[in-house]
Amino acid sequence: MDGSKIPVTAPVLILLGPPGAGKGTQARKLEENHGFVQLSTGDLLRAAVAAGTEAGQRAKAVMEAGDLVSDEIVIAILRDRLGDADCAKGVILDGFPRTTVQAEALDVLLRATGQRINVAISLEVDDDAMVLRISGRFTCGSCGEGYHDTFKPTIKPGVCDMCGGTEMKRRADDNAETVAQRLAAYHAQTAPLIDYYAGQGALSRIPAMGAIEEIATALDSVVAAATA
Ligand code: AP5
Repeated sequence: MDGSKIPVTAPVLILLGPPGAGKGTQARKLEENHGFVQLSTGDLLRAAVAAGTEAGQRAKAVMEAGDLVSDEIVIAILRDRLGDADCAKGVILDGFPRTTVQAEALDVLLRATGQRINVAISLEVDDDAMVLRISGRFTCGSCGEGYHDTFKPTIKPGVCDMCGGTEMKRRADDNAETVAQRLAAYHAQTAPLIDYYAGQGALSRIPAMGAIEEIATALDSVVAAATA
C-alpha cells in the first residue's frame, strides 16, 4: 500500500464495537470536540453505492445482506480517503478495521509514514439492546446528524437540530433480520480485534450502555490522554 500521502503527525483513533454501539454518534462528538476527522467505512461505502461506482456496485448486495464487504474494496476506499488533506487534523476510524486482514493492512500503511495508532477504543455493549437502538435510528439527509426515535429525538419533530434540514433518512440495512447478520459478522470477524489491539498495548475499553453524554465524557478523557 502506498501511504505516502498520509500526514505524519496526525493522531489515529479507532472505534470498535458492534452495530448500534454508538460508534458514529461518538465519532461525530469527537470530531466536534477535538477537531479530528471521522472516517466511517460504512458512510464511504454507502456513498460509493449511491454514486454507482464499480466498488459500490460490488458492495451493495453484500451490505444489504448484512455481511462484510471484501477487504480489498474496503482497504482501497479507506486508503484513498486517508490521503485527503483534511486527515492532517487526525482521524477517527469508525467501522474500520473490521477483520484481521484490515488491521494488518492499516499497520503497514501507518508504518510506512511513521504513524501509529494512538488508541483503539472498544465500546462495550449488550447485543440485545442493539436491535432497539438500530431500529429507531434516523439521520438528517442534509448534514448527516444521527438521531433516535426514543433515545435522541429531534427537538422539533421532523426538523434537524443542527442544520434545520427536514429530509430524514433511514438505512436499508436497519431491519431486524439484517441486524442479526451484522451482529454475527461482528462476533465472528471483528471482535477478535479487541485482543489484537490489547496485544499492541493500544486498547481501551469503555462501557457504552449508558447515556450518550456520559459515554462521550468517558471517551473525551481517554482520547485526551492518548493524544497528549
Ligand atoms: P456501518 O455503517 O459501519 O454500520 P455498523 O458497524 O453496523 O454500525 P452502525 O452504523 O449500525 O452503528 P454505530 O455503532 O455507528 O451506532 P450509531 O452511533 O449510529 O457498516 C454498514 C455495512 O457496511 C456493514 O454491515 C458492512 O457490510 C459494510 N462495511 C462497513 N465497514 C466495513 C469494513 N471495514 N469492512 C467490511 N465491510 C464494511 O447509533 C445507533 C443508534 O443508537 C442511533 O440512533 C443513536 O442515536 C442511538 N444511540 C447511540 N448511542 C446511544 C446510547 N448510548 N444510548 C441510546 N441510544 C444510543
